Amino acid sequence: MRWLLPPRADEVDLAAVYALPADRAPGRPFVRANMISSLDGAIAIKGRSGGLGGPADQRLYDTLRSLTDVVLVGARTMRTERYGPVRVDATARAQRLARGQSPVPPIAVVTRSCHLDWASPFFVEAQARPIIFTTADADSGAVARASAAADVVVCGDTAVDLGRALRELGRRGATSVLVEGGPGLNAQLVAGGLLDELCLTLSPRLVAGNGPRVLAGHELAETLGLDVIHILEEDGFLLLRLQPCPTDTR
Ligand SMILES: NC(=O)c1ccc[n+]([C@@H]2O[C@H](COP(=O)([O-])OP(=O)(O)OC[C@H]3O[C@@H](n4cnc5c(N)ncnc54)[C@H](OP(=O)(O)O)[C@@H]3O)[C@@H](O)[C@H]2O)c1
Repeated sequence: MRWLLPPRADEVDLAAVYALPADRAPGRPFVRANMISSLDGAIAIKGRSGGLGGPADQRLYDTLRSLTDVVLVGARTMRTERYGPVRVDATARAQRLARGQSPVPPIAVVTRSCHLDWASPFFVEAQARPIIFTTADADSGAVARASAAADVVVCGDTAVDLGRALRELGRRGATSVLVEGGPGLNAQLVAGGLLDELCLTLSPRLVAGNGPRVLAGHELAETLGLDVIHILEEDGFLLLRLQPCPTDTR
């Protein structure tokens, strides 16, 4: 892997390069999203993201998980990508403990239906108890089953209020949240002014089709400008680290 921007000749140490900033928005954790997209904007091939990735993207994915306090994901991504429990290797685990973090970050799932497979390895083999953010109108039987497998937090009547969910994670001690999509969840976070950083990998492929992009749903009332923090490259994969630009005059 090599630096493209800023131009640097030293080796890329992903954990150091993606270290979380000390500055945080008041009252909630730092929110970083990680996504991969083809060059023509597809975020899935036949409904799943796996066909877009490569070794560089996989290392970034593991590194970002190893750095965060909590992973946050939409229920459809958790289902379609067949999420399992987070695995953190011994080195990263020791680094987490040295930073005062739990050995493994829990995954928080956003779901209105509360219909998830409670007997799946995601729940049964989790080393950090998952968190379910759901709504007051969720099916009460499903919520009861969820409570046996996860910490259930009601954060809204008919939709999870993501600002409230993030504040709840902060109340539980999280200072950073890694959002792993999908596009529906990403769009809500951006619309709510809740995204602090976007890690976007551009996969050197064309996919076509009518699938969603990195953000889905309604067009934003105002577009969000992004500043480039860095760009890395490996095997044609471009790893962009971006942050919202406070005064976007472009
Ligand atoms: N390329 C990448 O990096 C990447 C990353 C992630 C995902 N993906 C792809 O993206 C697709 C899935 O993304 P998606 O946008 O369709 O779905 P998503 O955002 O992952 O999940 C949508 C679901 O999350 C729940 N949800 C979201 N916001 C909610 C709210 N405010 N209140 C209550 N529930 C809420 C609902 O779950 P319930 O239905 O349970 O109520 C909703 O159906 C998949 O094809 C996946 O492969 C790609």
